[in-house]
Amino acid sequence: MKLAILGASGHGKVVADTALQAGWQEVAFFDDAWPELTENGAWPVVGDSRLLLDRLAEFDGVAVGIGNNRIRLAKVRELMAAGAAMPSIVHPSAVVSPLAKLGTGCVIFAGAVIQVDSQLGHACIVNTNASVDHDCQLADGVHICPGTAVAGLVTIGEGSWIGIGASIKQLVQVGSDVTVGAGAAVVTDIADGQTVVGVPAKPL
Ligand SMILES: CC(C)(COP(=O)(O)OP(=O)(O)OC[C@H]1O[C@@H](n2cnc3c(N)ncnc32)[C@H](O)[C@@H]1OP(=O)(O)O)[C@@H](O)C(=O)NCCC(=O)NCCS
Repeated sequence: MKLAILGASGHGKVVADTALQAGWQEVAFFDDAWPELTENGAWPVVGDSRLLLDRLAEFDGVAVGIGNNRIRLAKVRELMAAGAAMPSIVHPSAVVSPLAKLGTGCVIFAGAVIQVDSQLGHACIVNTNASVDHDCQLADGVHICPGTAVAGLVTIGEGSWIGIGASIKQLVQVGSDVTVGAGAAVVTDIADGQTVVGVPAKPL
């Protein structure tokens, strides 16, 4: 089983390592910094994004290892439209309820938990040791950073970034393209495009 990863970043390395632990046998990176960039950690960089589209048939699956939410989402949509197989990559130590739903091209890292009846859109990241509790709705391109806790019945809009170690209270609605700062406690709804920090979280 061969996996292509678009985006030879640090995040991409975690995607690669997670994929190998999840049973993929071989990983190759594609990045627009190729041919100058030839390796990403333990793995080769073998082409750029255009070449990946030409070589899709050589791979059993494609993942996108780009941290920026909007760029990752655009690349996942482009690859879906090109017919790429984009399975979600789930670390074996993550616990994903069989009654949760993951969109195309999500990555779920070590120790993460996704509880019953939660739904994730395409291209979401649930990072190391983060939890998404019951009945949450995450739109496309959301990143839940390491150690973040999202309580039950929370909704998070497209492209939002929930920073490391943040908490979101149950039933809160977070808009699209929101940034929640590291360690913030979100206890009220957040409008589209806002950056909030602190305990309780307030606009920066
Ligand atoms: C919120 C955040 C995006 C703001 O970044 P920024 O716009 O570059 O802001 P700055 O670093 O210039 O800080 C601006 C002010 O906000 C404060 N601030 C920044 N982040 C804060 C946070 N998380 N909590 C409380 N205050 C914060 C700074 O102390 C500074 O205050 P000052 O003006 O009184 O000195 C960023 O600090 C953050 O928390 N990012 C999350 C990082 C993360 O989760 N990484 C994980 C990757 S997997």
